[in-house]
Amino acid sequence: MTIIAAKRVFVKSYGCQMNVYDAERMADILEGEGYAATDVIEDADLVVLNTCHIREKAAEKVYSELGRIREMKQDRTGRGLETRVVVAGCVAQAEGAEILRRAPAVDLVVGPQNYQNLPSLLRQALKKPVVETEFPAEDKFVSLPAPTPKTIRSRGVSAFVTVQEGCDKFCTFCVVPYTRGAEFSRSVAEIITEVERLALSGVREVTLLGQNVNAFHGLDEAGEPVSLSELLNRVSKVPGIARLRYTTSHPLDMDETLSLAHRDNPALMPYLHLPVQSGSDQILEAMNRRHTVTDFRAAVALVKQYRPDTAFSSDFIIGFPGETDEDFAGTMRLVEEIGFSSAYTFKYSPRPGTPAADMADQVPESVKDSRLQAIQALVTKQQRAFQESMVGKTLDVLVERIGRKPGQVAGKSPHLLAVAFEGSADSIGHIVQVDIVESVTNSLIGQLSDRPRAVA
Ligand code: 5AD
Ligand code: SF4
Repeated sequence: MTIIAAKRVFVKSYGCQMNVYDAERMADILEGEGYAATDVIEDADLVVLNTCHIREKAAEKVYSELGRIREMKQDRTGRGLETRVVVAGCVAQAEGAEILRRAPAVDLVVGPQNYQNLPSLLRQALKKPVVETEFPAEDKFVSLPAPTPKTIRSRGVSAFVTVQEGCDKFCTFCVVPYTRGAEFSRSVAEIITEVERLALSGVREVTLLGQNVNAFHGLDEAGEPVSLSELLNRVSKVPGIARLRYTTSHPLDMDETLSLAHRDNPALMPYLHLPVQSGSDQILEAMNRRHTVTDFRAAVALVKQYRPDTAFSSDFIIGFPGETDEDFAGTMRLVEEIGFSSAYTFKYSPRPGTPAADMADQVPESVKDSRLQAIQALVTKQQRAFQESMVGKTLDVLVERIGRKPGQVAGKSPHLLAVAFEGSADSIGHIVQVDIVESVTNSLIGQLSDRPRAVA
């Protein structure tokens, strides 16, 4: 009897959580084609890079990785081993054939709306390299195979589910409307089926993903559009699902009904990522954000009205074209005023094809650097203070995995803070009460306060 060794695939994801989700779905498709996942790139018969185009640095990382992969491919060829290389994700969508020119080791370039066709594209690419970046009319999610129970379990008790993709808002700095295409919401039935399958294999927390997730308007069984708050209600009824989160939201779509869900849906965690980008109305206008600083404040206040302990996080772009010292001071004041539990700060990166890239008054790199340092110092201070405010409290922690130190397990608090404590692996998948005793860099340390209690 001859034993045929399983083919191995190495999938690496860059950028946002939606890419993590897409990478998992690609692994699911490839599992059906006989590929087992590996973490060791040198062992891989197939390498998939799921790329990010949001900032220049993210895109350039892909090309340097492809340089290393080319050498690895040559080395493997010398040992009689075949290696096929796929570039997927947003760089694939934005750069297309340019990738083949710059990185000849690549066999297939496939955009985020086409990866459901990976098996046939890989077959086509046996003859010559293939580029597939069309926006197909059909719903790619319908043809994606479901992960097996074993695969779901290997990915842990907290899962991402894309419910909405693409963006029609066209902020002037952003590539997303070009790389991910027009806004599209999945149907409620499709989402519920996916969540039910995850829950049956031990998933306890689901984060609903979308570039503009709070603009969700997927259709229900009767063909009626359903809002995100209604979707959250339906998902929280799936047996086994104890916690819900959603990201990323736009301040304009933060309406009363969704804010009410923060009061009325006990599974919805008191944490909201709400990017504002700038604390200056002039800059927000130049960014085409279609909201003011006051609108953002109102969105925060609305959610807090119904769920006062909500922690907020946000994204900020520093050094957008035309940003003056005064504009930046407005951003700093807004951060001071709101008090974020965490925030992501990025230097403005001109992206080819977006309106802001051609704007006059680009801010010099040195100015961007010093403003970035200032805002990062403030954000770090707030993040630390928020974490420290948890010391002495007892928090519900969803245990996700074995901890870094022996005998420890680790999980997340309702406010998405990492918590480590001494406990047994049996508690993974349960929500337990933990007394917080210490705050260290990027996590809280605690001790079990209660016997583990099972989640419904
Ligand atoms: N330059 C810098 N940051 C950007 N982002 C999006 N486009 C750019 C850009 N051109 C940031 C925004 C967005 C986050 C995902 O990335 O803050 O919310
Ligand atoms: Fe990009 Fe603006 Fe759409 Fe967010 S809302 S994905 S920043 S264009």
